[in-house]
Amino acid sequence: MAITIHKFAQWKQEGRPIAVLTAWDFLSAQMVDAAGADLVLVGDSLAMPVLGYETTLPLTLEEILHHAKAVRRGVKQALMVVDLPFLSYQVSPQAAMLAAGRALKETGAQAVKLEGGYEAIATTIAFLVQAGIPVMGHVGLTPQSYHQFGGFRQQGKSDDEAERILAEAIALEKAGAFSIVLEHIPAKLAQQISQTLTIPTIGIGAGPFCDGQVLVTSDVWGLSDWQPPFAKTYVNLRQQAIEAAQQFCEDVRTQTFP
Ligand code: KIV
Ligand code: NA
Repeated sequence: MAITIHKFAQWKQEGRPIAVLTAWDFLSAQMVDAAGADLVLVGDSLAMPVLGYETTLPLTLEEILHHAKAVRRGVKQALMVVDLPFLSYQVSPQAAMLAAGRALKETGAQAVKLEGGYEAIATTIAFLVQAGIPVMGHVGLTPQSYHQFGGFRQQGKSDDEAERILAEAIALEKAGAFSIVLEHIPAKLAQQISQTLTIPTIGIGAGPFCDGQVLVTSDVWGLSDWQPPFAKTYVNLRQQAIEAAQQFCEDVRTQTFP
C-alpha cells in the first residue's frame, strides 16, 4: 500500500521514526523509493547540486515542476512532496494556491512544502489545507531567507529566537500542516517543538530528538563537492563516478574498449 499523509501522525504516536530523502529525477526517485524512504521530497535544494545555482532563490516553479514530473514516474511507495520555490507562494494565498495546485495537477505529487512560520504563511497554509491540499511546513533555517539570515546559519540560538520558532511551529500545526521540517536549530529546541506538537517533526541538522530525519540525497551519496556539516555521507559516489569515467576515457585512448 502506498503511503498517505495519514500515516504520519500515526507513526509519531507509535514512536516509529520517519525517514525522508530528496529526489530530483527518475533514477534518484526510483532508488530512494526502492530503499524504503517514507517520504520523497522534490526539494528546492535541487537548485544547488543538480542545477548549479548558489542558493535556492533563482529556482523557478517551471524548473521544479519539470523535475517533479520525472520523480513521480519513479516513486511507487513513498509519499511524494514538492517544495514551492521562492516567490511562488509568498505574494498571496491565491498565488500559493495556483502554485500548489499546479504541483498536484501537473506532477501527481501528494503534498507541497513551503517555508516560514510567520502569520501570513500560516494563513496561506490554512487556505491550502482547507482546499484539500496537504502541506508540510519548514521552520528554523529556511534557505529561501538566505539574504535575511546573511548565509546558511543555525537559527534559534537565542531564547527570543527559540521562542519565536516554537510559536511558528505551533501556528503551522494549527493551520493544518501534516508535518514540519526543522532545519539547523539546536537539538534542545527541536526536542521541545517535537514534544509540543502532535504532528511529526522531520529534522535536518536539528539533533536526534525529532520524529524523523531528512537528508539531501546527493549528500547521502557523496555526489557534490560540498556538504553541510550536519550531513552524513554514506558513500562517495562522486569519486567512484569520476574514476569510472576516467577509466572509460583511458580505455578508449588505449583502444582497450571495446
Ligand atoms: O530542499 C530540500 O531539500 C529541503 C530539505 C532539506 C528539507 O527542504
Ligand atoms: Na527546500
